[in-house]
Amino acid sequence: MDINAKKVVGEKAVEFVKDGMIVGLGTGSTVYWTILKLGELVKNGLSIRGVATSLSTEELAIKMGIPLVTLEEVDEIDLTIDGADEVNANLELIKGGGGALLREKIVSANSRKNIIIADHTKYVSVLGDFPLPIEVVPFGWKLVYKQILKLGCRPSLRMDNNLPFLTDNGNYILDCQFKKIKEPKELAIYINMIPGVVDNGLFVGMTDIVLLGFDDGGIETLLK
Ligand code: A5P
Repeated sequence: MDINAKKVVGEKAVEFVKDGMIVGLGTGSTVYWTILKLGELVKNGLSIRGVATSLSTEELAIKMGIPLVTLEEVDEIDLTIDGADEVNANLELIKGGGGALLREKIVSANSRKNIIIADHTKYVSVLGDFPLPIEVVPFGWKLVYKQILKLGCRPSLRMDNNLPFLTDNGNYILDCQFKKIKEPKELAIYINMIPGVVDNGLFVGMTDIVLLGFDDGGIETLLK
């Protein structure tokens, strides 16, 4: 993975941001570059308000001087820019490699436009090679694990220094290796019907534009 591809596409995405917008700020190493660039533009007079999708993004945005608002203070977000772990030709995604899937999905679902930025290695013909993150409440998680196992994947509890990784919402993540997800929409609905599941990292029908960055500085645009 080339850092330049992420930087190129991360900085390109700010061209969609206009004065006065409420902007959803995604999470991860690609959006990092967007936030840095937005910080620069804000210093030079751009007037926007950001909605952070994670505590780490909140911290970075504050450091960069981007004014933030909470979801309680807005009716809708104009535009959200976020990364992805896998993207297919239908603009369906796997997200949550960094554990921020739930807040990212809430912000995305309440945005008028969603732009996904990723380096070209994230583009796949079929989703599923990247283990699908599923956020579950800690209570009874082992039983939820068994239910998910029945869906034909290999789940593993995400760990952090020998302890279960905790999301910003205080939940666990099960990373589930499906290999090939042929029907993402159906699977997403099915998973979310299991009691104890909070949400899963499949983003279906939510993305308007994908910008794929290449190591030579090139960018490919995928449209809905
Ligand atoms: C955060 O939980 C994820 O959904 C990220 O958006 C995704 O993992 C992309 O991250 P990178 O831009 O760091 O690859």
